[in-house]
Order: sequence, then structure tokens, then C-alpha cells
Amino acid sequence: MKRILALAVLAVMMPSGSISHLDSNTPEVVARHQAMMFVGAQMRVLSQQARGAVPFNSEQANTSAAAIAVIALTFPHLFPEGSIVGENTDALESILENREDFKVKSEALGKAASDLSDIGSVEQLSSGLAALGQTCRSCHSLYRK
Ligand code: HEC
Repeated sequence: MKRILALAVLAVMMPSGSISHLDSNTPEVVARHQAMMFVGAQMRVLSQQARGAVPFNSEQANTSAAAIAVIALTFPHLFPEGSIVGENTDALESILENREDFKVKSEALGKAASDLSDIGSVEQLSSGLAALGQTCRSCHSLYRK
């Protein structure tokens, strides 16, 4: 009941502009944008350490790498048939015809992140991070506008 009330209050408070924005964003688009933003945020944690902007912290680096590996498992499930339409997505429909390759590329990200999830030194982090970044690019270059 409390939850329903809270939602009703939220609906009243929300300007109509943001309601139409929500309408045009399907749950899949929202979920995959959140997943991508999340891996992007973890990549920033790793790259700040790699370039010495913050001190190397193996526990934090290992956690970020492990988190990327887990989220990569969701990628193949976040682009179902019918979800790759509209102006709010940069995904390309070719994902649908290349499901297997899209999965392989998600797994490559997961593997590169797992390889990084036992980092002992900043040198290890730097080389692993380059390999990891390459897996993002190899998917984006084919399946993102
Ligand atoms: C298997 C394919 C694949 C891999 C691997 C992948 N991405 Fe993406 N990414 C996409 C697609 C497709 C989109 C477009 C999604 C959309 O707009 O619906 C995207 C979008 C994004 C966006 C924009 C999100 C937004 O809100 O518009 C960011 C940031 C991003 N990816 C970061 C990353 C990073 C960082 C990595 C590697 C750590 C990565 N991605 C790996 C396929 C991939």
C-alpha cells in the first residue's frame, strides 16, 4: 500500500515531459543503458588507478573487474527482439541476426574482466585494462550506432 501511494505521489510530481520520456524508453533500453553505464563507471575506477590519478588499490581494482565480469553475463539478454527500435537506442538491429557473435563478444568482455579480477600490481592492471577496453570497442564498432 505504501509503495502504491509512493508511486501515485511520484506520478503527480513528475512533469509530463519526463513521463513521455519514460514511455519511449522500454525497460530493456533502460536496463541496458544502466548496465553499460555501470561497466563504464567500473572502467573509470580501473583507469584512474592505471594512470596513477589515484593510488593503486588491488582490492578495489579486483572488485571492479569482478563486477564487470558479472554484468557482462547480462548483455546477451538485454537486446530482445522488438527492443531495438526508436530514437532512444543506439543499438543496431544487426544484433538480432548475429546473436551468437553478440554473445561471443559479451563473453570476451567477461573473460577479459575475469582475467583482471586477481590483479596484484599496477603494471598488471595497465595491460589487462587495454585488453578489456578492446573488447568494448570490438562490440561497439559492429553493433552500436
Ligand atoms: C557485446 C557488445 C557490447 C560490449 C562487449 C560492450 N558494449 Fe557498450 N554498448 C553496446 C550496445 C549495443 C550499446 C547501445 C545500447 C543502446 O543504446 O540501446 C552500448 C552502449 C554503451 C554505452 C552508452 C550507454 C547509454 O546510456 O547510452 C556505454 C557508456 C557503453 N556501452 C560502455 C561500454 C563499456 C565501457 C564496455 C566495456 C567494458 C562495453 N560498453 C562493452 C554493446 C556492447
